[in-house]
Amino acid sequence: MMYDKMIPVITIDGPSASGKGTIAQLVAKELGFHYLDSGALYRLVALKSSQEGVNISDEDVLAEIASNLDVSFENNDVFLENKQVTDAIRTEQCGVLASKLASYQGVRDSLVARQRAFRKLPGLVTDGRDMGSVIFPDAVLKIYLTASAEVRAQRRYKQLIEKGINANINALQEEIRERDERDSHREIAPLQKRLDARLLDTTSLSIFQAQNSVLEWYRACCAN
Ligand code: C5P
Repeated sequence: MMYDKMIPVITIDGPSASGKGTIAQLVAKELGFHYLDSGALYRLVALKSSQEGVNISDEDVLAEIASNLDVSFENNDVFLENKQVTDAIRTEQCGVLASKLASYQGVRDSLVARQRAFRKLPGLVTDGRDMGSVIFPDAVLKIYLTASAEVRAQRRYKQLIEKGINANINALQEEIRERDERDSHREIAPLQKRLDARLLDTTSLSIFQAQNSVLEWYRACCAN
């Protein structure tokens, strides 16, 4: 839709546990924009397919699940078939499964329109792996947000413990490395820093500093 092109989008792509979700949400709140956590959609497909006992190699069935997913996002909660699954999709198990099924073209295609539908006035902030490259190539500001694997494992560990979810830091670091490897080397929509994306390395930045960098870039390039 022509009209859509006039609605500003800020994309924040990056590896797992880089803090992109936290930063994207804070920036969206500050600007009064909508927010899309695209990883949640892949995690929801993972949750639903494990509930249904679907084989991870069955691309067609997984793509079908992705097409028919009955989900809603309300405030900070995620619902699958009207059941609250906010924490259920956050487990490492769900993340690993999501990363496996995200390598299928059929699954990714099934989620394109659903993601683009989040583009509404006054604007959208979105995070994921292919937001700037595939889903919103005309975004006004594209960011590649990362941090060292050690710092990301520590952040993820803290996040899980705070939620009362059991975690082991060494196992987390290994899972993060494996997931990075799979997400960056898959054939379809691999996670990569593109030339048109700005690099934001948060290894030694606070959340506040990272949020401010994004806001400054946005104000410099795009805000009226
Ligand atoms: O960002 P999050 O860790 O919640 O994403 C879970 C998995 O979903 C990622 O490891 C990645 O494989 C996949 N994903 C993707 N494209 C996106 C968002 C997430 O392939 N835009």
